[in-house]
Amino acid sequence: MSNFPRTAHTFNYPRYLKALQSVSARAQSDVLYQRFIEALVARADETKAPLRLLEIGAGRGDQMQRILDDMATHDTAVHYTALEPQSENRAVTESVAEAYATPPHTVTVQPTSLLDVTTGDEISYDAIVARSVLDLMPLHEALTTIEALIPENGLLYAPLTFAMGTKLAPYPSARTASTEHKIASIYHNSVYQKTELEDGAYPPQEIVHWANKRNARVAMRGSDWVIAPSKKTYVQDEAYALQSILAFMHDEAEQLDTIPHPDLDSWWATRMRMLHNNTLIYTANQFDLLIQFD
Ligand SMILES: C[S@@+](CC[C@H](N)C(=O)[O-])C[C@H]1O[C@@H](n2cnc3c(N)ncnc32)[C@H](O)[C@@H]1O
Repeated sequence: MSNFPRTAHTFNYPRYLKALQSVSARAQSDVLYQRFIEALVARADETKAPLRLLEIGAGRGDQMQRILDDMATHDTAVHYTALEPQSENRAVTESVAEAYATPPHTVTVQPTSLLDVTTGDEISYDAIVARSVLDLMPLHEALTTIEALIPENGLLYAPLTFAMGTKLAPYPSARTASTEHKIASIYHNSVYQKTELEDGAYPPQEIVHWANKRNARVAMRGSDWVIAPSKKTYVQDEAYALQSILAFMHDEAEQLDTIPHPDLDSWWATRMRMLHNNTLIYTANQFDLLIQFD
């Protein structure tokens, strides 16, 4: 049916994250990021001590690198701890960390999941960074851990947090659109399962609600991922990122096994044809969050 069957796609996590670099760079709010950096600098000026930062799910260390570069331009010393349980991603982050761990900075990369982090009076951070990751874990459990780790005047910066809303275009056919509607719904349900949120709740909005209950200052900006061809070509390796996302959707649907296989195969073939003809357009609704406790 397809000259690019599902089995022809091999997922490589570091390649996927590298392919997303340009997508995330376009999406992430510079205004909110700068506000985060200013808050960090103000905090360091106030405490006169190195900043303690914790990043959850550092991936290949892209966000860490940007923050450490910016802290260096402000002459602000940082003790940076990056959590990355996935070994191939962690290896990339470790190589970035080596380049940045020069006194007075320290950079530690740990294989720990946030959910296994020990909390206690003696462990606290000035800020926690969680880019594109809080939608992958039981959210309220994660927020309880985060709260225990940033006890006083802490910051939580959570850019690119997924709020469902996956859309593919152009319109395929009534039958494929109907299959796609079911596949997208299964894909979003898998996020509900991972986050342990109720069907119809959205991770970023849940975080904002949680923060407001604690009387925190909240800034929220839209940061949708957009992968669209221009002049019939995709930027850099973005087609690989999109192919991987379609494979995530396909695999969730295949696993649940409620969509007839011929329909699933036909959907995959249609969207692969569009991707490989450089016509497929993808958008995903996301938000950047900056939360300041005081
Ligand atoms: C979508 S990637 C985002 C990576 C990186 N933050 C970025 O924006 O490029 C999510 C990352 O979080 C990691 N991750 C998933 N669950 C985690 C958890 N419970 N604790 C810490 N990291 C986790 C994954 O291994 C993966 O590298």
